[in-house]
Amino acid sequence: MESINVLLIGSGGREHALAWSLRKSPSIGKLFIAPGNPGTEFLGNNVDLDIRNHDAVLEFVEGNDIGLTVVGPEQPLVDGIVDFLDAHDKVAFGPTADAARLEGSKSFAKEIMEKYNVPTGSFKLFDRHEWSAAEAYIEENESWPMVLKADGLAAGKGVFISKDKEEAKKALEFLQNDPALSAASYRLVIEEFLEGEEVSVFAICDGDTATILMDAQDHKRIGDGDTGLNTGGMGAYAPTPVLDADSLENIRQRIILPMVNAMAEEGIPYKGILYCGLMMTAQGPKVIEFNCRFGDPECQVIMPALETDIIEIMMASVHGKLDYIDIKVDSESFYTCVVLSSEGYPRSYEKGKVIGGIPADSDSLYVFHAGTKKDDDGKLVTNGGRVLNVVSKAATLNDSIQKAYDAISSISFDGMYFRKDIGAKGLKRF
Ligand SMILES: Nc1ncnc2c1ncn2[C@@H]1O[C@H](COP(=O)(O)OP(=O)(O)O)[C@@H](O)[C@H]1O
Ligand SMILES: [Mg+2]
Repeated sequence: MESINVLLIGSGGREHALAWSLRKSPSIGKLFIAPGNPGTEFLGNNVDLDIRNHDAVLEFVEGNDIGLTVVGPEQPLVDGIVDFLDAHDKVAFGPTADAARLEGSKSFAKEIMEKYNVPTGSFKLFDRHEWSAAEAYIEENESWPMVLKADGLAAGKGVFISKDKEEAKKALEFLQNDPALSAASYRLVIEEFLEGEEVSVFAICDGDTATILMDAQDHKRIGDGDTGLNTGGMGAYAPTPVLDADSLENIRQRIILPMVNAMAEEGIPYKGILYCGLMMTAQGPKVIEFNCRFGDPECQVIMPALETDIIEIMMASVHGKLDYIDIKVDSESFYTCVVLSSEGYPRSYEKGKVIGGIPADSDSLYVFHAGTKKDDDGKLVTNGGRVLNVVSKAATLNDSIQKAYDAISSISFDGMYFRKDIGAKGLKRF
């Protein structure tokens, strides 16, 4: 392959991991990251680009001879950046806005799953003007807990698991009135509570077929033992002992391929990453939700495990050629990512704390930046809730966890917080 200039959109730990993987590609030319972070600066050029301004993005793509644009986060995908670039004959990796509705609208995803018999919990939809009907539905419900969700993107704040009527009514009221949720809750999804172990499966799709990259488990809550507030994610590990090769293939056959076929049938072929949030129930795997991009921090454990050139994979996805490539992932090792956050996160926290002691990367230890910046003196300081991602690789899950925590012991900043039990739920299964 000729060398190719890449524009990567995003600024988190996920994007640092993607930049790292793109940089390793034999066909990478220039790599630009918009806006990037101090970690991605070592891998390419961080550029100041208003990614909501599609014309400005196109101008940059044309001006810098970009042959591939990679979109990290969901919002630009849902906003149609891929459609826009594609309409101007520019190659962009990821789903179109219509296809990204699998993440951007939970009711859309539910209706597709229902129509094409993809296993998921039973559900009911209520538009905003029907919410007295939702109240009546809650009143008559007999199976608890019950799950209430805002339909649209809510940055992890639109889901309520209610153990009884009283809680459900409170959740309904919150969904109705919270100003931060008003855009997302034009529609409400009430669904069956699924019991089991939660696991995420990441597949790459090309509109026609799909290949599983890896399975992972994340740790959403701020506190050890999955307690406290929801966060963007405090850590992840992969692969999981929850799914073996047979169960992954079963998930591909029963969930992923049927979804890819369903989307093609609907005239909205799905290309890009399909992130399947699953519950392993007594009746088998059921879909909790789909996301249309890599997870953060799951991406940070998947990129180091990927042995095939990421540009080759992304190009195959864009051009419908996944059948022609063999994707290899390290199956001999385990990867653990521990997120270091600012004290107070996910509520309010201070910024500008000097960060010290980051160990050098090796072939089994990586530190991916998220909320960091260089201050006026060129010192690295904290600049967000989630600050750094420490990622390790080892032959056993236990060793990889140990190794991540060992590396953390040298890192310091004022108010540094991290969970002490990342991967522990996986260890219990060995
Ligand atoms: N039907 C369900 N049964 C049990 N738990 C659920 C269900 N739906 C969601 N959850 C829990 O709530 C979390 C968030 O829900 P999800 O649909 O993934 O929304 P989002 O990630 O957009 O906030 C899930 O990761 C899961 O732990
Ligand atoms: Mg989710």
